[in-house]
Amino acid sequence: MFDVEAIRAQFPILSREVNGKPLCYLDNGASAQKPQVVLDTIQRAYGHEYANVHRGLHTLSTISTENYEATRGTIARFLNAPSEDHIVFTSGTTEAMNLVSYAWAMPRMQAGDEIVLSIMEHHANIVPWHFLRERMGVKLVWVETDVNGDLDPQAVLDAVTERTKLIAITHVSNVLGTVVDVKSICAGARTRGVPVCVDGSQAAVHMPVDVADIGCDFYAITGHKLYGPSGSGAIFIHPDRQAEMRPFIGGGDMIRDVHRDEVTWNDPPHKFEAGTPGIVQTIGLGAALEWMMNVGMENIRDHEADLTAYARTRLDGLNWLNVQGKSRDKAAIFSFTIEGAGHPHDISTVLDKKGIAVRAGQHCAQPLMEHMGINATCRASFGVYNTRAEVDKLVEGLELCHELFA
Ligand code: ALA
Repeated sequence: MFDVEAIRAQFPILSREVNGKPLCYLDNGASAQKPQVVLDTIQRAYGHEYANVHRGLHTLSTISTENYEATRGTIARFLNAPSEDHIVFTSGTTEAMNLVSYAWAMPRMQAGDEIVLSIMEHHANIVPWHFLRERMGVKLVWVETDVNGDLDPQAVLDAVTERTKLIAITHVSNVLGTVVDVKSICAGARTRGVPVCVDGSQAAVHMPVDVADIGCDFYAITGHKLYGPSGSGAIFIHPDRQAEMRPFIGGGDMIRDVHRDEVTWNDPPHKFEAGTPGIVQTIGLGAALEWMMNVGMENIRDHEADLTAYARTRLDGLNWLNVQGKSRDKAAIFSFTIEGAGHPHDISTVLDKKGIAVRAGQHCAQPLMEHMGINATCRASFGVYNTRAEVDKLVEGLELCHELFA
């Protein structure tokens, strides 16, 4: 039985005040708060079980390595990947996309080849492809969303030509909350022989993800949005794609042998992980994902679906509020501006005085802002611990902003 108050009690930070008001944390799209079990795991990992991984035979190194490697299995279960060998640790989705760009795409692409992207990609799923455009003459092909912020999977497939080498697409927009039908895109892409790289940074927080069912080639997740530590993350890579990849960052761990004139590589996934990694961050991510799976991904999805429906009704009732993105299949992410009000930064500042944390700006999604014809928005992004009462608080705060500015 899902009990949001019991969930909230596990997050120490939620009991603090901000500017003399109880914290109402609605900036989960940027980074989520951490439950006590993650804090305890970090404390134990550094306080009792810390040593470097994959390098020592002594007891602490063995314990640390076991704890660290256990996260690989946890992530495989979390994503329903067929094997933990398909999981490469990263520092987050930004590193994951750079890994795919450098290690898989760059050696396989030539001038004039094409990458299909949606207009609502986060910069992490844009800039690594711009590197290929700038350095190699690869063409970026943009597919636009409709007025509701929906992305037609067929429009993505229609953008594929004989020069298309990759579709790079988000599963959930970090600005609009739109849920993209990545499964249909992957099915169509497969018949056209085009791999699909999915940015799951926002999606995996809100809903169960099954990479086997989606049928993608790459699926990236970000630890700090998944109630885990910053600097942690992972990417699922289909073994056929892994076999096509050259190493990314060079150093210890990713090698088998290094000689004066020769170097050979470790097996995947270690081939793509160089140097001392984010040991404790990754162990903490394992604890966070176990916690999410214990809460139940279906429970998280259902709770947030209720919040989304409630927030949609309350925000739609404010006829001076422009909510961007009216997709029917929408995660709990709301971007908006107030008619006649100043910059979204002003709205965010007023809300902050009431203890409400939202993000304001371009949300690392400038092409989407240009497409929508706006400079910036305020964004309220909900998580597992948010409540209907907090939606009401947000609405009260917005009414105050409307009174002050409009
Ligand atoms: N990608 C994060 C966001 O959307 C930082 O806010």
